[in-house]
Amino acid sequence: MQIQDILYSQGFGTRRVCAGLVQQGFVTVGGEPCSDSAARFDPEGLQFTVQGKPWPYHEKAYILLHKPAGTECSQKPSTYPSIYTLLPSPLRLRPQKGPVQGVQAVGRLDQDTTGLLLLTDDGKFIHRMSSPRHHVPKVYEVTTKHPLDDVQVRKLLSGVVLDDDPKPVKAAACAVVDDFHLRLTLTEGKYHQVKRMLAAVGNRVEGLHRSQIGGLELTEALAPGQWRWLTADDLVLIRS
Ligand code: URA
Repeated sequence: MQIQDILYSQGFGTRRVCAGLVQQGFVTVGGEPCSDSAARFDPEGLQFTVQGKPWPYHEKAYILLHKPAGTECSQKPSTYPSIYTLLPSPLRLRPQKGPVQGVQAVGRLDQDTTGLLLLTDDGKFIHRMSSPRHHVPKVYEVTTKHPLDDVQVRKLLSGVVLDDDPKPVKAAACAVVDDFHLRLTLTEGKYHQVKRMLAAVGNRVEGLHRSQIGGLELTEALAPGQWRWLTADDLVLIRS
C-alpha cells in the first residue's frame, strides 16, 4: 500500500494532504525518513510518525475511553463538551463510507456517567455490541441517594416495568457493596436504564460509573479523559 494511502486510511487528511505531508518530509516509516508519497509498505504492524508523533497502523480502530463526567457522547453536544474532543484528530477523521467520519461510540453514556466507553469505526462491531440478541453484560457501579435494602435488590433481579415498555427489565446480577453502593449488571441498554430501574424501586441514582463490558474491566491505569487502543486480547475479553 502506498504511504500516502496508509496515512489517508488512518485519518491524516485528504489524499492530497497526506501526499503533501510525505513529500514535505513530515513522515518517517520504521524509523527512516520517507519523502516518496508513492513508496509502498505492508501496512500490517507498520509504525510510522507524522510530524514526530508515532502512529501504529490499525486497519480498524477499536478504542477504550475512560469517559469523564460532564461530557456528552454526541458529535453535536448541546450543553457539555463532546467526548470526541478527547480523541486525537486522526481518530476523528478516519475515512468512512457513510457521511460520518471517524470512530463512533458503541452506545452512549449519560453526561454525568463516567467509565468504560468503546469507540470504533467497525460498523459490524457496533451492530453486534448493540444488538439485544448478543446480551453483552455491562457492569455499573451505582451510588444511591437512599439506603439499599433486600426488597429493592429482589425487585431489580426479578424485573421492573419501565414507562416505555410493559415487558419488565431485570438485572443479570445485583451485588450490594454497602448501604449506598450497588454493582449492577445489565445485558440490555435501554435509555437511562440504570437510573430508571433504580427509580422504579423507589431509590435514586446519585453517581454512575461503568466498570466492565463483557470480561473487559476499566482499570486505574487509565485516568478519566484518557484513551487507549484495544488489543486483540481485549476484543476477545469483551465477548467473554
Ligand atoms: N444507565 C443510565 O441510566 N445511564 C447511563 O449512562 C448508562 C446506563
